[in-house]
Amino acid sequence: MKLVFLLPILFLIGGIGAKTNFKANGTFTCDYNAWCFFVTLWEEDITESWNDVIDRMGTKCVFGRHSWDYKLDGNEYEDAPFGDKFYEVFLSVRHNCTSHGIREVRSDTTYESVDTAVSYITWDKDLTGDDGTPYKEFV
Ligand SMILES: *[C@@H]1O[C@H](CO)[C@@H](O)[C@H](O)[C@H]1NC(C)=O
Ligand SMILES: *[C@@H]1O[C@H](CO)[C@@H](O)[C@H](O)[C@H]1NC(C)=O
Repeated sequence: MKLVFLLPILFLIGGIGAKTNFKANGTFTCDYNAWCFFVTLWEEDITESWNDVIDRMGTKCVFGRHSWDYKLDGNEYEDAPFGDKFYEVFLSVRHNCTSHGIREVRSDTTYESVDTAVSYITWDKDLTGDDGTPYKEFV
């Protein structure tokens, strides 16, 4: 696991870099009576080949309700002291509020200064329909 080797380095950099706390929330709505979703808050890492997961919520299934309020909360550490002065943050949700199967849709990207202590993001989304990218699994 790459991550295991990276952890000590992340701690070191975390000590000298700035920290930003991201708080995301919103309401998903769906016309179906039974639907599931898996929501993730991401930080886009253009210098790396992967995006950082800031926070995510396990697959949540909703029965007999047409809306659900979600909340995500996590920290990012300035990982490139001489690079970008902005975090690029977005949410993705995989859901089956579709006519058939699972789809993933994304929010717009939010830009946040690395000097911001707490960043609030709200994304309300009506999931109903067949927009987005098809997936076989929620995770
Ligand atoms: C999301 O958080 C904002 C404050 O940042 C609050 O005003 C709003 O009511 C919250 N929305 C939900 C759905 O919890
Ligand atoms: C979504 O998946 C759940 C769990 O498998 C299922 O009960 C529900 O009927 C599905 N909803 C739709 C709209 O396909």
